[in-house]
Amino acid sequence: MEITLNSPLDMHLHLRDGDMLKLTAPLSEDFAGAVIMPNLVPPVTTPEMLQSYSARIEQAMSGTPFSRYMTLFFTPLGEKELEAARHTPGFFGLKLYPAGITTNSEGGVSDLARADKTFRLMEEMGIPLLVHGESHGFVMDREAEFLHTYRHLAEKYPALKLSMEHITTAAALQLLEEYPNVCATVTLQHLIITLDDVAGGALKPHLFCKPIAKRPEDRDALLQAALSGHPRLMFGSDSAPHPRCRKEACGCAAGVFTAPVALPKLAEIFAAEGALDHLQDFVSGNACRFYGLTPQARKITLRDTPMQVPAAYRSYGEEVVPMYAGESIGWSVVR
Ligand code: NCD
Ligand code: ZN
Repeated sequence: MEITLNSPLDMHLHLRDGDMLKLTAPLSEDFAGAVIMPNLVPPVTTPEMLQSYSARIEQAMSGTPFSRYMTLFFTPLGEKELEAARHTPGFFGLKLYPAGITTNSEGGVSDLARADKTFRLMEEMGIPLLVHGESHGFVMDREAEFLHTYRHLAEKYPALKLSMEHITTAAALQLLEEYPNVCATVTLQHLIITLDDVAGGALKPHLFCKPIAKRPEDRDALLQAALSGHPRLMFGSDSAPHPRCRKEACGCAAGVFTAPVALPKLAEIFAAEGALDHLQDFVSGNACRFYGLTPQARKITLRDTPMQVPAAYRSYGEEVVPMYAGESIGWSVVR
């Protein structure tokens, strides 16, 4: 069996910078493009930083055409600044992190009320708002506790394109039904694993991420929504590479590195459930329609011949461990 996808997109990707960028950027090149996260140190907060980061990504890629949808780390920008952002080539939207909620988010927002004017302007200008929606509560409840904030934003700014990033709960899916201006991304790992896979037996640092994997009923609801072709649910890998020494450590960094296995594994899952005809929309069509995107024209073929996943990817003095390291998965990319 095989499937050819048109211009697959990864709607939430961390590529880092420096040597780690050089190592990881080429490993996302089976995608035609991606929404690039801004949580560098320091975060990408200005059009100048955004353009120079975009250029560094282009340099790190091997020359394959790749649409870089760049985000700015949310700060309460005014009209002039938003106008400047909007006219910056490659600019896609603003990514909002509650302060301190995840990797490199210390400069995030601690009082949403102070961002009201920025939200209003973004709504008027048609600038998407991407949100890491977690509270600072008990780790399993953080997303659920943030849902009222999503509701508040969706109702107060009904024309604002609002993305609930990397949703992990059945309750978040319910919000999609209530608000047509809201979309969501979901990762590979949250369609597959639960907290049991992370911490139910021997602790698996390479499956530890924010938001943490949840209950079987959440995982099942997310998978069913993806397989059934929900029009506002999009694939966003949240592939988040950290050096092996920062994962296999006392104080494991959050993030699962899935970029190299994402498309083959998605094809395997959709094929197993007889839903291959919905994969194109999940990995591209839904995002293109919701945001009006026209990514680089690319075709990629996936086939049900196994892929042997490397135990680690190493170069430029960096080493990262992917999901399914050292294992075989059922599908692979046809080269
Ligand atoms: C991400 C990272 O490492 O940058 N980590 C993660 O666990 N997902 C940040 C994020 O998206 O939360
Ligand atoms: Zn992320």
